[in-house]
Amino acid sequence: MTNAPTPQHVAIIMDGNGRWAKQRGRPRTFGHAEGVEALRRTVEAAGELGVCYLTVFGFSTENWRRPAEEVTALFDLLRLYVAHDLDKLVAEGVRVRIIGSRAGLQPDIAEIIDHAESRSKHNDKLNLTIAFNYGGQDEIARAARRIAEDAVAGKIAPSEINPAHFAAYLDTCELPAPDLVIRTSGEARLSNFLLWQAAYAELVFDDVLWPDFGKASLERAFAEFRHRERRYGGHGSEQA
Ligand code: IPE
Ligand code: IPE
Ligand code: MG
Repeated sequence: MTNAPTPQHVAIIMDGNGRWAKQRGRPRTFGHAEGVEALRRTVEAAGELGVCYLTVFGFSTENWRRPAEEVTALFDLLRLYVAHDLDKLVAEGVRVRIIGSRAGLQPDIAEIIDHAESRSKHNDKLNLTIAFNYGGQDEIARAARRIAEDAVAGKIAPSEINPAHFAAYLDTCELPAPDLVIRTSGEARLSNFLLWQAAYAELVFDDVLWPDFGKASLERAFAEFRHRERRYGGHGSEQA
């Protein structure tokens, strides 16, 4: 038994910008700028291939460990991408969401995010979610904090808390779980991406560096996905 031809929710760890730039003797920020081009290609390809949800990892809660000028460049690229592409995305029926911690973000970034989310909220052709200042552990801890606050306020009883209930407190509460997580650049780890949500995702690791990613890479990952058998702890296709 094989999977549906297209995963409904594809999540991508866009990695390898720095190495791509280094191979060309250019600064890391050049690689990040090219990474935005790859993102544009991928959003377009995902729509063409019938993906409903595309979630991309743009900046992790651990990426603050990088030099300040690289962090600034990454924030500038988010501003630029959203400001420059929002009209086109909205016209194409894309709903934009940004997940991650809003704490520590400059007020103008928070405004850009709110604007993009509210302007695109009636769209449903493709759900594009950008994980920015996002860490899976941070997201789970923030959710736990809000549940604890609701429990203290008497809104929920601790005995009611179960996985479905908990998931409603996550940043991804409006999204289905990812079917496929792709990581580029040959690294085989999650680096704190969608820790809760990827419990039963198929993982595909591609050696391509993110700035070289495009429709062909996406199709290659889908071909691999189709050959996986998802069992969710059961017996899969052997099940009577
Ligand atoms: C991915 O590329 C972009 C971010 C993590 C923000 P990297 O900057 O991690 O590139 P490499 O892994 O150093 O090549
Ligand atoms: C993960 O990549 C974060 C993003 C792609 C935004 P990193 O390059 O930060 O991950 P590590 O440090 O190699 O695990
Ligand atoms: Mg990296």
